[in-house]
Amino acid sequence: MEWRKEVEQIAAYVPGKSIEEVKQQYNLEEVHRLASNENPLGPSEKAQRAMQKAVLETHLYPDTSASALREVLAETYHVNTDEIITGNGADNVISIVVSAYVNEGDEVLYCTPTFPAYRSSTLLMGGVPVEVPLRDDFTFDLHEMKEKITKKTKLIFICNPNNPTGTIVDHEEIEAFIRDVPKDVLVVLDEAYIEYVDVEGYKTGIDLFKEGYNVLTIRTFSKFYSLAGLRVGYAIGTKKVLEPMLRLREPFALNRVAIAGAVESIKDVAFGEKHMKMNREEKLFVTEQLAALGCKVYPSHTNFIFVDMKQDGVVLFEKLLEKGFIIRPCAGWGLQNYVRISIGTHEQNKQFIDSLKDIL
Ligand SMILES: Cc1ncc(COP(=O)(O)O)c(C=O)c1O
Repeated sequence: MEWRKEVEQIAAYVPGKSIEEVKQQYNLEEVHRLASNENPLGPSEKAQRAMQKAVLETHLYPDTSASALREVLAETYHVNTDEIITGNGADNVISIVVSAYVNEGDEVLYCTPTFPAYRSSTLLMGGVPVEVPLRDDFTFDLHEMKEKITKKTKLIFICNPNNPTGTIVDHEEIEAFIRDVPKDVLVVLDEAYIEYVDVEGYKTGIDLFKEGYNVLTIRTFSKFYSLAGLRVGYAIGTKKVLEPMLRLREPFALNRVAIAGAVESIKDVAFGEKHMKMNREEKLFVTEQLAALGCKVYPSHTNFIFVDMKQDGVVLFEKLLEKGFIIRPCAGWGLQNYVRISIGTHEQNKQFIDSLKDIL
C-alpha cells in the first residue's frame, strides 16, 4: 500500500536511550538520564496523591475539555477558560495548531537549531518549513526572520527559551517583532521551559497575549511540573485562534490521572520553589565545573545546558554511557562538538562531573 507522500518525508522520532536499555547494554546497576530535560525531583507529593485517587475512577471517561485544569490555569494566569486548550503534551498541541492552520504550500517559519516538531508537523500537512539559522552565539535572529516573511507565511514558531540552546529572546525584541508581523500570520511561542526564566520583569507570551497581541502560547507540564510521563500540554490564545484547534483535538486527549496530577502540580507552589532553587544552584555548579574543564557553556534559561565540549560530542556520549550517564549529543542538529545536558540532583551532577573528569 502506498504511503501518503508527506509521510515519506518524515523521519521517525528517535528518542534518547532509556535507562533500562543502558543498564542492560553496559551491565550497570545504576544509570542516570540527563538527556530529556526531565525534573529529577519526581512529581510533587500532592500531585502523587491526587493521581492515586484518580486511578480509582479510570473506568469512567475523562472530562473532554479538562475543565478542572483549565480553571486552575485560568486562575493562575488571569485569562478566561475559553482562551485555553489542553492536549496530550505540548507535542500534541503543536501538531494541532499546524493541522488547523497549514495548507499545502503554506510556509512555517522558525529559527534552527530548535525543537524538531515544528518541521515534522509542517511537512505532514504539505507545508513548507522555512528555517533561519540562529546567530553565531546561538541567539535568535528575529531581524532575519522578519525578512523571510512572505505572502505564503502562515505560522511563525519562536521556541523561547530555545531547545537545544537554552537561550531566550529579549522580550522587547519579541514584542517589536510581533507588532510588525502581518495580521494573517499567527505567532506561536513555544514556552516549554518558560518557568525557569529568572529574569526580573520578563514578559511571557501570556503577558503579551493579555496586552492584546495575537500570539498563541504553548506550554507543558513535562518539565518544571515534573509530569513528562503523564503527557499534559496546553495553549493560551484568543477564542478565535483556538476555534479550529478545538474541532481537531482528540475528544479525550487528557486522561483522568493526567488532569488530577496537573491540577495539583500547578497548585503546589512550594514544590515549584524548591525545584527552581535546586535548578538554579545546580546549573551554576555544573556550569562552573564544565568551564573549569575547558568546555564552553552557553548561558541557559532552562533546566539544561548547551555545551561546546571542544571534541566529538557523540564519542563523549558513548563513553559516558559506559559510566551510566545518558546525555544528548547535538550531532542531529549538525553540531558535532555540542551536547545538551539536563540538570540533575546534586548527587547526580557530582557523579556526572567525576565521570566526565575520568574520561577527559
Ligand atoms: C521546546 C519544546 N517544546 C515542546 C516539547 C514537548 O513537550 P511535551 O512533553 O509536553 O510533549 C518539548 C519537549 O522536550 C520541548 O523541548
